[in-house]
Amino acid sequence: MNDRLALVTGGNGGIGTEICKALVSTGYRVVTTCVDPEAEDIGGWQASLRESGYEVDWVACDVSDFEACATMAAQVVEELGAVDVLVNAAGITRDTFLHKMAPEDWSSVLRVNLDSVFNVSRQFIPSMRDRGFGRVVNIASVNGQTGQFGQTNYSAAKAGIHGFTMALAKESAPKGVTVNTVSPGYVRTSMTAAIPEEIRQGIIDQVPAGRMAEPEEIARVVAFLAADESAYINGANIPVNGALFCSF
Ligand code: CAA
Repeated sequence: MNDRLALVTGGNGGIGTEICKALVSTGYRVVTTCVDPEAEDIGGWQASLRESGYEVDWVACDVSDFEACATMAAQVVEELGAVDVLVNAAGITRDTFLHKMAPEDWSSVLRVNLDSVFNVSRQFIPSMRDRGFGRVVNIASVNGQTGQFGQTNYSAAKAGIHGFTMALAKESAPKGVTVNTVSPGYVRTSMTAAIPEEIRQGIIDQVPAGRMAEPEEIARVVAFLAADESAYINGANIPVNGALFCSF
């Protein structure tokens, strides 16, 4: 146990759940946000993790809403203490070609995937700076690096996350706070299961690794970046994409 507290937004999602488990395994106390506890059956999710030996707290919060994030942050700090590690993992898709995209498809994806990163980081960065320690890990996507059919909204939000990461890393490094991005490729979750079968298979055929990632394969990179020892990795993007997109 290292007694550090980690907050994971969207920690009850496909990748988020494995991030929570990886952080608990490494000794962190972990709390996740969820938007609608009842609809998401957060109690059932928590109980099933507990059965497997993972204790994770939760707090209700719509991370696309700045004021809700301020309220959530005050509650977390009061009940659990200062947040040392923030993982911004909340994300949605509303895939459709731009020529068919409704303004709401654009704004909801930008609000949940990108505004949330500001809304939540803004709550916790001041205390990380004051305490001289912090880890922020933002979950982006290979599609923010390459663009993807039907994802002008998602690709823009995910690319924006890395711009945010680089700028905040420069501001934060002098204060002992690191800010990094993890960019997963296609991961076996309900999000990718929603891609039409024929198109999904076509995507997998393009992945040199010949398969999707398992959520655990993303989570272990997040835990690595969260570690105290990862202090000199800052402003980086770590791709985890089975060689789908190689860059330097
Ligand atoms: N590669 C190549 N061609 C594609 C394509 C792709 N990825 N996606 C769509 N197309 C082509 C189709 O083959 C089709 O071509 P034809 O007209 O020659 O048949 C044309 O574009 C139109 O496609 P649809 O008939 O499917 O059009 P639609 O309007 O019903 O749907 C779509 C469009 C929403 C983009 C749908 O094709 C789709 O869902 N594509 C997958 C989008 C995707 O990859 N999303 C990733 C979700 S997972 C995620 O985002 C996690 C992450 O971080 C990686």
